[in-house]
Amino acid sequence: MGALSLSRIILLLLPILLLLSFLRSASAANSSDNTFVNCLVNQSNPSHPITSAIFTPENTSFSSVLQAYVRNLRFNTSTTRKPYLIITALHVSHVQAAVVCAQKQNLQMKIRSGGHDYEGVSYVAEVPFFILDMFNLRFIEVDIKNETAWVQAGATLGEVYYRIAEKSKVHGFPAGVCPTVGVGGHISGGGYGNMIRKYGLSVDNVIDAQIIDVQGRLLNRESMGEDLFWAIRGGGGASFAVVISYKIKLVRVPENVTVFQVRRTLEENATDIVYNWQHVAPYIDNDLFIRLILDVVNGTQNGTKTVRATFIAMYLGDSKSLLSLLNGKFPQLGLNQSDCIETSWLKSVLFWANFNITTPVDILLDRQPPSLIYLKRKSDYVKEPISKEGLEGIWKKMITLVDTLLYFNPYGGKMAEVPSTEVPFPHRAGNLWKVQYMANWNQPGKEVAIQYINLARELYKYMTPFVSKNPREAFLNYKDLDLGINHHGKDSYDEGRVYGEEYFKDNFNRLVQIKTKVDPGNFFRNEQSIPILPQRKI
Ligand SMILES: Cc1cc2nc3c(=O)[nH]c(=O)nc-3n(C[C@H](O)[C@H](O)[C@H](O)COP(=O)(O)OP(=O)(O)OC[C@H]3O[C@@H](n4cnc5c(N)ncnc54)[C@H](O)[C@@H]3O)c2cc1C
Ligand SMILES: *[C@@H]1O[C@H](CO)[C@@H](O)[C@H](O)[C@H]1NC(C)=O
Ligand SMILES: *[C@@H]1O[C@H](CO)[C@@H](O)[C@H](O)[C@H]1NC(C)=O
Ligand SMILES: *[C@@H]1O[C@H](CO)[C@@H](O)[C@H](O)[C@H]1NC(C)=O
Ligand SMILES: *[C@@H]1O[C@H](CO)[C@@H](O)[C@H](O)[C@H]1NC(C)=O
Ligand SMILES: *[C@@H]1O[C@H](CO)[C@@H](O)[C@H](O)[C@H]1NC(C)=O
Ligand SMILES: *[C@@H]1O[C@H](CO)[C@@H](O)[C@H](O)[C@H]1NC(C)=O
Ligand SMILES: *[C@@H]1O[C@H](CO)[C@@H](O)[C@H](O)[C@H]1NC(C)=O
Ligand SMILES: *[C@@H]1O[C@H](CO)[C@@H](O)[C@H](O)[C@H]1NC(C)=O
Ligand SMILES: *[C@@H]1O[C@H](CO)[C@@H](O)[C@H](O)[C@H]1NC(C)=O
Ligand SMILES: *[C@@H]1O[C@H](CO)[C@@H](O)[C@H](O)[C@H]1NC(C)=O
Ligand SMILES: *[C@@H]1O[C@H](CO)[C@@H](O)[C@H](O)[C@H]1NC(C)=O
Repeated sequence: MGALSLSRIILLLLPILLLLSFLRSASAANSSDNTFVNCLVNQSNPSHPITSAIFTPENTSFSSVLQAYVRNLRFNTSTTRKPYLIITALHVSHVQAAVVCAQKQNLQMKIRSGGHDYEGVSYVAEVPFFILDMFNLRFIEVDIKNETAWVQAGATLGEVYYRIAEKSKVHGFPAGVCPTVGVGGHISGGGYGNMIRKYGLSVDNVIDAQIIDVQGRLLNRESMGEDLFWAIRGGGGASFAVVISYKIKLVRVPENVTVFQVRRTLEENATDIVYNWQHVAPYIDNDLFIRLILDVVNGTQNGTKTVRATFIAMYLGDSKSLLSLLNGKFPQLGLNQSDCIETSWLKSVLFWANFNITTPVDILLDRQPPSLIYLKRKSDYVKEPISKEGLEGIWKKMITLVDTLLYFNPYGGKMAEVPSTEVPFPHRAGNLWKVQYMANWNQPGKEVAIQYINLARELYKYMTPFVSKNPREAFLNYKDLDLGINHHGKDSYDEGRVYGEEYFKDNFNRLVQIKTKVDPGNFFRNEQSIPILPQRKI
């Protein structure tokens, strides 16, 4: 047969080949296709059958499984793209099967633990995708003798706190204040809470981990190596592996701690008090954390608005020493004994989560938050105190926007002591506090959403002169897709560098190197994952 006729045959076959490959790629991302499911079943150990963990849109409970861990109503609409499959892993081998089979076809996998991602990145995607849902893997094993615990990714922070307190009244763990947040996303993204000034971030207290890597291997700290172990302590787990569990170091807390909440409006000298807060909160005793919340409320005169400053504190000590500390260093607040609540560390979790402190602590085991809202969040870092004129400008802006809140979380203490290269989270010494921008609403609809999102964006823009620059820093756990999205094409590295340097500053480069080494095919990817190094031109 001559060369001519061979190429003619290829030409004749071409449309069929193209059609076949089209059908293959179309069906690879399609629930009616069985290749992926067959592989999952084939890969999994018969003693842990995976079929009861596979949900396709044909299963009647598909929607309820999907919605069970949606924590931002913005992504609970009929137009939100749905996964073609959900794997609710019941066993580590199911995670391994998911990774191995998805990798073969290079499917987009989203990993979800607690579902609290502000941008829904764990359960929404722009391309066809499936969800690896970790909520069933939530075992917690507390070892008080060694002051450690193994916590699986699907556990919530409330469960972690409850299980620690069950065994000891004088141990705790420094992590977030919202009890329904998941361990998997929270810790792999850094994790902070009201003991940050005393004990640092959650990741400053992680001593081992178990992961499934891109080849489906179950690895621990020793077998994954120090580079990868570094990356999954704040670099965002979803760029590198599936986190199965973390081994955490428990911290000591007093049998009773003191909390308070004090509110002052502008009419009650809030400007002076906030001005002074800046010079106190990041420097005072490490046992004390005073969060400042700013929102807009009605003024005492009908039809007027004012800014309200709410000071919420956690003190690892008794009220007597707290009062003497604050009346010496922060008399402007006017704290008195009746503002203070002395209670156990576990009940302080209730207080911080806005539950009445008399509520039975079992409520921390509830995996469903009391209510859900539509929300948008953004973040910033402040390195210089803001002048009174500056604060007054911010109040004026907030009053025109009305429906935005600011949370100021003071740093200093341990946060200023840990070197910025210790873990991927880089925002250490030199930061006075972190800003969280919040817009909350409770009506459906795209128009309404855009309106509220724009309020947060406008306040963020207004704050430019007061916050970090080059880069303007941001906190990974306060996921904000406004900072940029990765399309995983030829510009992936440049796209990734934009948000990557805001979240990680110079640590971005090390994350890219580790990523390139452990996942050169970029299987573990999402809208803001760590990119691989661009291929050298040949
Ligand atoms: C009400 C509320 C309060 C919050 N309070 C705090 C706070 O006090 N402190 C703080 O630091 N943050 C706080 N956050 C932010 C929170 O820490 C992050 O949203 C965190 O990523 C949530 O983890 P998750 O497992 O619940 O989320 P998910 O949405 O499940 O996951 C978040 C990200 O992590 C990835 N991921 C999840 N599980 C794994 C895994 N097992 N392996 C690899 N990657 C994984 C996901 O793919 C996604 O990219 C709060 C968020 C909310 C909604
Ligand atoms: C799945 O593929 C089938 C046939 O290939 C097609 O009819 C169906 O619309 C696809 N479904 C989705 C959700 O893409
Ligand atoms: C199942 O696994 C066997 C051997 O491991 C392999 O030969 C077979 O092709 C696999 N089947 C599917 C559907 O993946
Ligand atoms: C989903 O439906 C399929 C087909 O009916 C069934 O085989 C499978 O077991 C169901 N999955 C679950 C988790 O119920
Ligand atoms: C999410 O949307 C579904 C379908 O519209 C609805 O039934 C459900 O109540 C919504 N969830 C919440 C918490 O509002
Ligand atoms: C506690 O730590 C000791 C010393 O490191 C170790 O030998 C022991 O096995 C640990 N106990 C548990 C239950 O892990
Ligand atoms: C802690 O508070 C409880 C209840 O108020 C009290 O009974 C207990 O003595 C306190 N413990 C310490 C060490 O002060
Ligand atoms: C506000 O400050 C002024 C001047 O320092 C003081 O006289 C006044 O009592 C303060 N108001 C309140 C509500 O604390
Ligand atoms: C504010 O308005 C309410 C009802 O509109 C009225 O009862 C009240 O007297 C007003 N208060 C002042 C201070 O004007
Ligand atoms: C604030 O004032 C407006 C009228 O100016 C009123 O409609 C609203 O109910 C008030 N809000 C609160 C919380 O009192
Ligand atoms: C303590 O401060 C609160 C306001 O924060 C005030 O309502 C209360 O009257 C004060 N109590 C005393 C005894 O000064
Ligand atoms: C908490 O609940 C107790 C008992 O039901 C009640 O007396 C108290 O007023 C409540 N406290 C708050 C702040 O709602």
